[in-house]
Amino acid sequence: MEKKRIKIAISQRDSIDLNYSSDGEMVKDISYQVIGCKNFVDQVEATFKGFSGNISDLRLPEGDSHSEILIRELILKIKSDWNFPYNDEELCHCRVVPTEVVDQAIISGAHSVKAVNRMTSAGTGCGTCRKDIEALINHRLAKTSSKQ
Ligand code: FES
Repeated sequence: MEKKRIKIAISQRDSIDLNYSSDGEMVKDISYQVIGCKNFVDQVEATFKGFSGNISDLRLPEGDSHSEILIRELILKIKSDWNFPYNDEELCHCRVVPTEVVDQAIISGAHSVKAVNRMTSAGTGCGTCRKDIEALINHRLAKTSSKQ
C-alpha cells in the first residue's frame, strides 16, 4: 500500500488535509485535519471517519452545497477519477480572471454562468469563455461526471 495525501481548500473557508494508504483498490489508515463550517466537518466525518475498505464503497454525495462539492472532489481524487475540465491558469482573458477564482465562486454557490459573471466578472467581455465556465459548473455539480 502506498501512502497518499490530498489537500483541498476554499480560500479562507473550509479546508481538508487527508492522508491515507491505498493500493488502488483498497483504502485504509485514513486520517485528516479538517477546518470549516459545522456542515462540512460533519460531512467529512460521516464520510471518512473510520473508513477502511474498497474504494468503490466511497459513495459520491449528490447535493450541490460547498461541502458536498468538496467531498465529491476528494472521493474522485481518491479514486483517481478527477478530470478537471479546464487546466489553463487564466479562464477569462478579457477580464483577466484566474480559473481558480471561477472555480471557487462555483464551489461557493455560483451555479449558473450568470452567477459566475456577477461574482467574478469572468465571461462579461467577448463571451468566448462562457462555454468553459459552463463546463466547470457542470463538472462541479456532477452533471458531466465521471464514473461513480
Ligand atoms: S475571454 Fe472571458 S469574456 Fe472574453
